[in-house]
Amino acid sequence: MREHPSPEVLLEWYDRHARKMPWRVAPSDRQQGVCPDPYRVWLSEIMLQQTTVAAVKDYFERFTARWPTVQDLASAKDEDVMAEWAGLGYYARARNLLKCARVVADDLDGVFPDTVEGLRALPGVGPYTAGAVAAIAFDRQAVVVDGNVERVMARLYNVHTPLPAAKPELTSLAEGLTPALRPGDYAQAVMDLGATICTPRNPACGICPWRPACDARIAGTAGELPQKTPRKPKPIRFGTVYIARRVDGAVLLERRPDKGLLGGMLGWPGSEWVEGETPRHKTPIRAEWTTLNGEARHTFTHFHLRLTVKTALVPMERKADIGDFVSLDTFRPSDLPTVMRKAFDLYHNT
Ligand code: ADE
Repeated sequence: MREHPSPEVLLEWYDRHARKMPWRVAPSDRQQGVCPDPYRVWLSEIMLQQTTVAAVKDYFERFTARWPTVQDLASAKDEDVMAEWAGLGYYARARNLLKCARVVADDLDGVFPDTVEGLRALPGVGPYTAGAVAAIAFDRQAVVVDGNVERVMARLYNVHTPLPAAKPELTSLAEGLTPALRPGDYAQAVMDLGATICTPRNPACGICPWRPACDARIAGTAGELPQKTPRKPKPIRFGTVYIARRVDGAVLLERRPDKGLLGGMLGWPGSEWVEGETPRHKTPIRAEWTTLNGEARHTFTHFHLRLTVKTALVPMERKADIGDFVSLDTFRPSDLPTVMRKAFDLYHNT
């Protein structure tokens, strides 16, 4: 009979091995009474959805240097926040981030709710984020289940049901282990275990604090878990974008509507993106267009995209039908979402 997994054993491991992160209060400081800043915890958790810790760190530092409190963020201009977010992907997160900051600043006196239910009522805060912020910022005994936690639970209890069908079972197993003492550190400990030891490939079972308690390790199945139902292959969509440069160096950009993919972001004007071939569309300005060699390729959640990039030099007085010229000194390629940045790189490197 194996040992039962004990949260205390994992917390002892976390006390020695917790990763340092700019939004995290180290376990030793926390036990001295240092409390995490709910604004920083919330911001980090929104950024970390679908994105790795390594990718988020610099963004987090830039955001908190520019907007140190939720009130600062709430009074930021939408386009400044979208520009700082550019490259992180899933842009609806950034729009909801601003909505949420404004609700907290304007309706809640700048104070984040300290319960799962209260947090859940905020824009852009789903069950994962509400649980994570309640646990990490307020030490509530909330269940926190991300991909790391699912993997750790599937192995600890040798669950062979494939994801996503296994989610409810894995959540209830995670619930059963969440301790009343130090739930915030515990939540982060399971995530750290999943990120550093109980990794997707080649888990380091030899140094795992839960080794004696792990059913999959005993059965020899750890490396095969969690099972996943194969996904349908993603379709390929095609489109065209237009990079018009004026003789003074200004470029023609369009802010995309708030709703839909890349909502609220700046981009090159162009066609719709559809399967098959680029649909008929209007060019944004009258010009002699040159088609660049190659294409800008990017993968979104539900499809692959291949963009043809056309470019032209246009005279100063020519009026654009779509979009606005942005001067050379205000245009920053880093303000563009990644796919638009790739189109610019194709142009820039040609
Ligand atoms: N992934 C998402 N949130 C995290 C956190 N607080 N610590 C480590 N990894 C995370």
